[in-house]
Amino acid sequence: MAETPEVPFPEEQCPQTPPAAKAILRRVEQPAARAPSARTRTARLAEGGSLVGRSRPLAEPLYQTTVWAFGSGDDVDAWYEGRAPGTHLYYRNGNPNMASLEAALADLEGGESAASAGSGMAAIAAGFLAIVGAGDHIVADRACYGGTTVLLREEFARLGIEHTLVDATDCDAVRDAMRTNTRVLHVESISNPLLRCPDLPRLASIARDRGALLSVDNTFASPILMRPIEHGADLVTHSLAKYLGGSSVAVGGIVIGSRGLIDGARARLVRLGATIGAFDAWMALQGMKTLALRMEAHSANARAVAHALDRHPGIAAVHFPELPGHPDRAVVGRLYPTGCGGMVSFDVGSAAAARALLAEVSRAGIPLAPSLADTRTTVSYPAGTSHRALSLAERRAIGVTDGLIRLSVGIESPEDIVTDLDRALRVARTGAR
Ligand SMILES: Cc1ncc(COP(=O)(O)O)c(C=O)c1O
Repeated sequence: MAETPEVPFPEEQCPQTPPAAKAILRRVEQPAARAPSARTRTARLAEGGSLVGRSRPLAEPLYQTTVWAFGSGDDVDAWYEGRAPGTHLYYRNGNPNMASLEAALADLEGGESAASAGSGMAAIAAGFLAIVGAGDHIVADRACYGGTTVLLREEFARLGIEHTLVDATDCDAVRDAMRTNTRVLHVESISNPLLRCPDLPRLASIARDRGALLSVDNTFASPILMRPIEHGADLVTHSLAKYLGGSSVAVGGIVIGSRGLIDGARARLVRLGATIGAFDAWMALQGMKTLALRMEAHSANARAVAHALDRHPGIAAVHFPELPGHPDRAVVGRLYPTGCGGMVSFDVGSAAAARALLAEVSRAGIPLAPSLADTRTTVSYPAGTSHRALSLAERRAIGVTDGLIRLSVGIESPEDIVTDLDRALRVARTGAR
């Protein structure tokens, strides 16, 4: 901090200042623009711990303890009675690493509060359970992650909570699906794996008109590219195992929203034993320090790869929100001014062609790994992994064909990714290695 001058140097005192630096200085001179950017806020996340002698750790320490020791029964009572803010009791109820993660994500998403969870699915389930009970109804995007569809079908249905799946990019269909007992409208900001981008402000207004809440799974976009609460969402969820963690090491989830909603979600997470562990919370936070830079690189690389694939013979369709033919192009232009993240899906026409390509792609150094958002490029096969539990008809209805391949474009040099893919595609098509 001390290295940044409070008052920028007047231009005439440094005539050699290059244009880019001058632009920065001009922005700094406008007090309204001085609020730290998301890039700065993430770079400075979870600073330090308490003093150890005359210094303190720069990075937040890991609090790997199951339980906390108290000086008296009165202090324990104070915790239970909510009179001891910042105090911790037992790992399932929270700890400083969880609190830092929650504060960081509430800030980045622009929400009042956040509750961390053991996984993305736990976060989604707890968010829903904070709102719905037996007799209520959820409308969800048919194009969501398969695990969410299965959660509604296999668990919520048994609890007497009905749901209707719709195409969330069709606002009329969404309106028609809403009932008097609909409490939640759930969508993904960028859907998995077809990368559809529903019109969040319009959906928020439909939900509001019908007395329901809009829940947005923001896993594919991250708060760097999209902040659904600014567009009217009430609840935002993430799988931390994806872009937020960023290196395929942290496992967890987060649910963000108003204090009342999040208190409700947190209570469910604690009762169900679905909170995150300290180590995963700490690891996710380390990953988030580079989130802004990574999202910039993922987005730029995916753009390059999508355009290269779009010209490639043997590919029936490329799904990427910024491509000219994408059905949600107008929404994307309005809601995603800085990019759409690192996911690109493409169709090679048949299951046999997909399997041949997956083998070649992993031979070329792009692993077949059924998750996403690692720093390195990976591929996945939605019909055989994330959407395997759906019937053939359900998969067809959302475009998850047998030839669909989902690419998670990493932050390597884009030329290297395109070269590896091109080689694999050529070998898979011609058989010539
Ligand atoms: C968009 C999306 N949401 C939620 C989840 C579930 O997250 P988790 O695996 O952390 O439970 C996934 C998992 O792949 C996902 O892709």
